[in-house]
Amino acid sequence: MTVIAIDGPSGSGKSTVAKALAARLGLAYLDTGAMYRAAALAAARAGLLDQPEALPGLVKGMALEISLAADGPAVRLDGEDVTEAIRSAAVSGSVSKLATVIPARRVLVDRQRAIVAAHRQPGIVVEGRDITTVVAPEADVRVLITASESARLRRRALERHGQADAAAMAATVDEVLRRDRDDSTVAEFVQAAPGVTLIDSSDLSIEQTVAAVLKLLPGA
Ligand code: DC
Repeated sequence: MTVIAIDGPSGSGKSTVAKALAARLGLAYLDTGAMYRAAALAAARAGLLDQPEALPGLVKGMALEISLAADGPAVRLDGEDVTEAIRSAAVSGSVSKLATVIPARRVLVDRQRAIVAAHRQPGIVVEGRDITTVVAPEADVRVLITASESARLRRRALERHGQADAAAMAATVDEVLRRDRDDSTVAEFVQAAPGVTLIDSSDLSIEQTVAAVLKLLPGA
């Protein structure tokens, strides 16, 4: 039984590390950001993204299916495969509108807790912004992965644009810095809460970051 909770800002490397841990340990992997993205896509399609009071009801009613595969989730919304669509620039740019509506978060947090409870055996790696503090504060391992602003911008620029020159970094500022600023108004993922281990990945490879988390496993 292992629940590994990982939080961090965008570009911190937390998704890559969470997937590697799940694959290595044979655990399920829950990408909670994918759930916020799917909910934002559903809201945008319904024309409700700018109506915060309508969002909790919409999130409650949406038929969201998310797989727990270690190589990343397949996501279906009302039966349609939206795995690719939720990664679009439009969704990345607007997802905070949904993620900053507290009553809408509660609906998703309830679903996330139910998924964690159902997968304690053999275990699950859960990744997001409020996992160590709200979704699974009882997790066996609780980690906040951070990285310097420039490291985060460089990583996301490489991922999105295939390079990290000045233009690609500038094009990534909204997705990384503005989004984190908005998201951090509702979740604490800059400072580690009591009992949460802070790992600064700025100068660490993925492998080194994975190793740092593995060391925290009970019995390691
Ligand atoms: O990790 P990501 O970029 O796929 O997350 C998408 C958005 O969802 C991000 O803007 C923050 C939000 N989010 C959140 O508020 N709480 C979580 N547990 C996970 C994601």
